[in-house]
Amino acid sequence: MNQATLHQLKVFEAAARHGSFTRAAEELFLTQPTVSMQIKQLTKSVGLPLFEQVGKRLYLTEAGRELFATCRQLFDTIAQFEMKVADLKGLKQGQLRLAVITTAKYFVPRLLGPFCQLYPGIEISLQVTNHEGILERMVNNLDDLYVMSQIPEHLDVNYQALLDNPLVVFAPVNHPLAKEKNIPLERLCSEPFIMREPGSGTRRAIQGLLDEKGLKVKVKLELGSNEAIKQAIAGGLGISVLSRHTLLTDTAEFSILDVQNFPIKRTWYMVHPAGKQLSIVARTYYEYLLEAAKQFVQPTNFSTYTTAESNQLNAEV
Ligand code: PGA
Repeated sequence: MNQATLHQLKVFEAAARHGSFTRAAEELFLTQPTVSMQIKQLTKSVGLPLFEQVGKRLYLTEAGRELFATCRQLFDTIAQFEMKVADLKGLKQGQLRLAVITTAKYFVPRLLGPFCQLYPGIEISLQVTNHEGILERMVNNLDDLYVMSQIPEHLDVNYQALLDNPLVVFAPVNHPLAKEKNIPLERLCSEPFIMREPGSGTRRAIQGLLDEKGLKVKVKLELGSNEAIKQAIAGGLGISVLSRHTLLTDTAEFSILDVQNFPIKRTWYMVHPAGKQLSIVARTYYEYLLEAAKQFVQPTNFSTYTTAESNQLNAEV
């Protein structure tokens, strides 16, 4: 590896990440032949093929996978060093990689604005995915911090509670049940239900409650996004259970039904793998988010919730 250069490793890392020389070239503003040439030279230094092509797809060989993991560690260490140097110079700068579950996208980006103003030198990448997507990213060590509602069972993680995340029953604003109080859970079983996709934590929480009570809902539609579900509810296709935080400004279009056993109480946690050493930037954000979450108040305007429950939810949020 004496002949290998940092530049070659950067090119290789991008090609391995994208599974494509063309996309690596685009990302790095290089030509495709330059990428091929750099990887050819790196392959020569390693002495084993790094990629193999099957049909049109590019796969990493075993040596390629080892080198990819090494590159990630190497670039992480360099990034940590750069952050330390910036910190010594009295600056907070570097990259912050966040991944949050779909419902947290309603508050995390809002809180990013003031953070960016406070630390203009910090570049942020924010991935939004469902519960299973987060677990996969965590296993592959792709981010600095995660915001999620359920602590992973089979991974060794550190976590800190941030905010309550109540799941409530959403219906169109003029739904016949909108004015009723204390609706029995069984009543939901006769309504057309819109369900999140498999792998969603929201779905798992609903299913958990239904299984516990021995009930089944009539799933009319399965959708992979909270926003798509809200549109379907507003369009009169059915009811659903969503995080109350998904309702920010469009409260006039929905009612929240006063159903027994609701809200399902969940919590957002800030999580990171136990062995991971948080960078200076990640630690700065961690502390910032904890503080900001304490001050975060969601606007509410729910005519269908009893005042007592509304107040209680407000206090929770
Ligand atoms: P989801 O996340 O997008 O996986 O449903 C929400 C949650 O886990 O509470």
